Amino acid sequence: MVGAGSFARRGRASTFHRPAFALLLLLLSALEPAEPLTIPLGLDRYMPVPEENPITAAKIALGRRLFHDKRLSRDKTLACSSCHDPARAFTDGRRVSVGVFGRRGARNVPTIVNRGYGRAFFWDGRISSLEEQVIQPILNHLEMDMTLEEASARVELTQGEIAHALASYVRSILSGDSPYDRFVFGDRDALTAEERHGLEIFRGKGNCTACHAGPILTDESFHNTGVAWRDGELLDEGRYSVTRNNEDRGAFKTPTLREVARTAPYMHDGSFATLEDVVELYDKGGIANPHLDPELRPLRLTAEEKAAVVAFLYTLSGRVQEGLTGAEPATAPADVVERPGALPARAWRVQVAEYRRGGRNGLRLRSR
Ligand code: HEC
Ligand code: HEC
Repeated sequence: MVGAGSFARRGRASTFHRPAFALLLLLLSALEPAEPLTIPLGLDRYMPVPEENPITAAKIALGRRLFHDKRLSRDKTLACSSCHDPARAFTDGRRVSVGVFGRRGARNVPTIVNRGYGRAFFWDGRISSLEEQVIQPILNHLEMDMTLEEASARVELTQGEIAHALASYVRSILSGDSPYDRFVFGDRDALTAEERHGLEIFRGKGNCTACHAGPILTDESFHNTGVAWRDGELLDEGRYSVTRNNEDRGAFKTPTLREVARTAPYMHDGSFATLEDVVELYDKGGIANPHLDPELRPLRLTAEEKAAVVAFLYTLSGRVQEGLTGAEPATAPADVVERPGALPARAWRVQVAEYRRGGRNGLRLRSR
């Protein structure tokens, strides 16, 4: 393992007078600007971050690299970004996910925008912190299929370091500043008449806000809409497999609706191709089954009303940003080498050393 000290020894330090170099390093790190993580319009200014993993610039940068690093998968063909593609609001456009060796998963890839605000992860909420969450796909046989020892060895980081860096990066992936947000914050012209009508239905007759509520349009809770019910049985027990409470049979986490127009197909199993199809489902009051959520009932929307709701859902696409500066996401950071394992060792070590030195780069959260 190469820490900051040993890197300095092996690297350029030898050409400097050592104490002077140490002083220079100290000065540089003290001067390092605490770059603000800009929270886009419409999102909560407060994002809960666990005390043992404060957000730092170095961790976000390292997490971003790991997110695009195919060495984290058994055959070095898949990175997190293969399924959570930044160009598709961090989804993959497939019905269900496809892991190493073409292994098909059972569930649709959810967007991971604004997950820093989340309280439960996965469609069934089986994980309760991002630090735990980000390790799961690395271990999952149907996804990246690694062991922690192998993953650690390949990227020269401990399990804890991988988890902390990836979780920090995921917290930096945000979507806000959409036409909907601008409307809510007072710009009457941000929505067309049809979109405003759709918002009214969303909040009123459609009863959508019973579950899709708050800044990220989810109650972070679990509901049965009947999507998993097929021919008299549940194809996926959903939340029940975590709680073993009967009323949780076939219940899934309410997904965020931010960027929803860019994340088709829909639902935990990707069985709905379009937003029109989803609105039809709600218009019918969901799919009847023994545990259907009581908030769902036939809506009797007119064709115009259905179209208005869909038009409104499009207004939830805003600015997706990631990393420190709030830059629009690139498909892959320019300095990440896509060839498996080919990230220049030296560049990688600088990144790791910087991260280990970390802790000083405190972040200010700032809303716009
Ligand atoms: C093979 C495709 C695939 C890969 C690779 C993958 N994921 Fe996922 N991810 C999924 C699927 C599918 C789910 C939902 C699974 C479920 O709910 O059971 C998911 C869920 C998540 C969630 C939870 C989102 C939520 O709303 O609950 C996060 C966060 C996440 N992934 C981050 C990552 C990170 C970080 C990596 C890389 C270490 C990664 N994923 C790699 C397919 C993938
Ligand atoms: C009872 C709670 C509840 C109500 C009311 C509700 N939803 Fe949902 N919504 C959910 C749940 C839970 C899911 C995921 C279901 C699944 O995958 O099985 C979901 C999924 C969705 C999706 C798919 C998102 C994705 O990424 O896959 C859209 C779009 C959506 N709802 C829009 C609406 C609209 C529009 C309304 C009002 C007409 C509405 N919802 C009312 C709970 C609710």
